[in-house]
Amino acid sequence: TYSTASTFDFAANLFPLSSSTGNGYAPLGAPTSTAHQNGGLGGTSLEKHKTLTYLNGLSLIIGLIIGSGIFSSPSQVNANVGSPGASLVVWVIAGILAWTGAASYAELGGAIPLNGGSQAYLSKILGELAGFLFTWVAVLVLKPGSAAIVAIIMGEYLTRATIGAEAETVSPWVNKGMALVGLFLVTFMNALSTRLGTRVNNMLMFLKFIALIAVTTIGVVVAFTGFTFSGEANTDWKNHDWFEGTSTDLSQWAVALYAGLWAYDGWDNTNYVVGEFRNPGRDLPRVIHSAMPLVIISYILANIAYFLVLPLATINSSNTVAVMFGSKVFGPIGALILALIVSASCFGALNSSTFTSSRLVYVAGKEGYVPAFFGRIGIGSPGSGVSSIRTRSWFSKRMHTMLGDDDGVLFFTPVNALVLNALLTAAYVVVGEFGELLTFYGVAGYTFYFLTVLGLIILRVKEPNLERPYRTWITTPLIFCCVSLFLLSRAVFAQPFKTIIVILFVLMGIPVFYWRIHGRDQVSKREHGAPSTPWWKFWERWRT
Ligand code: ARG
Repeated sequence: TYSTASTFDFAANLFPLSSSTGNGYAPLGAPTSTAHQNGGLGGTSLEKHKTLTYLNGLSLIIGLIIGSGIFSSPSQVNANVGSPGASLVVWVIAGILAWTGAASYAELGGAIPLNGGSQAYLSKILGELAGFLFTWVAVLVLKPGSAAIVAIIMGEYLTRATIGAEAETVSPWVNKGMALVGLFLVTFMNALSTRLGTRVNNMLMFLKFIALIAVTTIGVVVAFTGFTFSGEANTDWKNHDWFEGTSTDLSQWAVALYAGLWAYDGWDNTNYVVGEFRNPGRDLPRVIHSAMPLVIISYILANIAYFLVLPLATINSSNTVAVMFGSKVFGPIGALILALIVSASCFGALNSSTFTSSRLVYVAGKEGYVPAFFGRIGIGSPGSGVSSIRTRSWFSKRMHTMLGDDDGVLFFTPVNALVLNALLTAAYVVVGEFGELLTFYGVAGYTFYFLTVLGLIILRVKEPNLERPYRTWITTPLIFCCVSLFLLSRAVFAQPFKTIIVILFVLMGIPVFYWRIHGRDQVSKREHGAPSTPWWKFWERWRT
């Protein structure tokens, strides 16, 4: 198995449980990591509570994917490819690309059923350094950066809803303030209980679907009856060829594709919490194969509705398509309602994203990539003041029953990880410049998606007999790799300077890796008396 081949993986032998599944990976409920467990801090682990079901997974992924994008990206897509027909093609391609990526991740999640997503897969397949570099970029930039974007957009729409037409002239600090309040709320909810977070998710998922279905229905009705509350109906769609004006410039298509992919992004997020599923081998592929087509269909329908109701000039010039749609059909009230719906949608995406990010940080804490403090569950550890109250006070017992904990820890959630994630996200909200964040997100994000899916192909070759509860067609990862490579190469040529910054940032993780892993192995040595490879023999360390 991998675990015994690696020089520092002696812990896999110390915890024989973790190699007893037959496929060499930790069974569910065993320590998350085959390398290390928990740095000796309490014995409590999230994976012990397998609370997630098919429906939770579905609302998690749909809640995260449908956020800001479908309500604002359509203009970027259309402005770049030049025609409604071509826009729809882009939305289909982006959706299918996301789906192939998600299907590949479903296979990986079944074969390696650990929390942490790409981090776990890259460590197992390409070596721990790769897993670490992913974690480094994801924890510091990708997760908080994308959450910050969603939070800022939420703030913008809330401003629009409350202040109205003058929203454009308002100081950006109003938006940012609202973004911070939203961030605080979701963090607090997720710290309180996992169940609370997932319930809110379930509710918001239905809201989003209802909103998208309503937009579609209204669009069709308006198109056929020509009736709107605000007066003139749009006739563009009847008088134009839907492909008239299509751009032939490949790089414009790439930009449009990136905009579409942002709206579909988040498809890898159920993989972060695979370890908390009751039945991941069965439910993960189910979640993905129902979520992705649902999202694709609702996006296509919503786009068609926009084109039916709004003149092309309006679509191209505004980045708040949904609000324009509302005001065209129902006047100011419609604009207000849609602005509220979009901010609720972003709030839901922020909530799901907070949930999964905290799990990523938590796993990183357990692996020793970040201080073990962040891999702790709850406030205080068993035996500390907070938890011993539980045995005495009635109130505290009630709290524990309510919050779903039976472990002597007050909040059975990765509180420290949640706080770290919230602080980083807040920093991006405060200083972040939107466009910069988005570019970095696209390039760095797709690099790691690409590597992970490539890892799936490598794993098929290296470990053909590995138990895989779900297998996708081999064409799936191949398509994903080719298209994402095309996208990445476009970005490299279009923005060489930014690409260099991304690369430098990733490389900066390498020294940190040796520092962290050295520290981690020292702790194990103290605790288990087992030998570890000295840090200067780094070549032996990442030879897996
Ligand atoms: N697709 C989402 C949206 O349209 C963005 C998801 C951000 N990604 C993430 N991992 N948080 O807003």
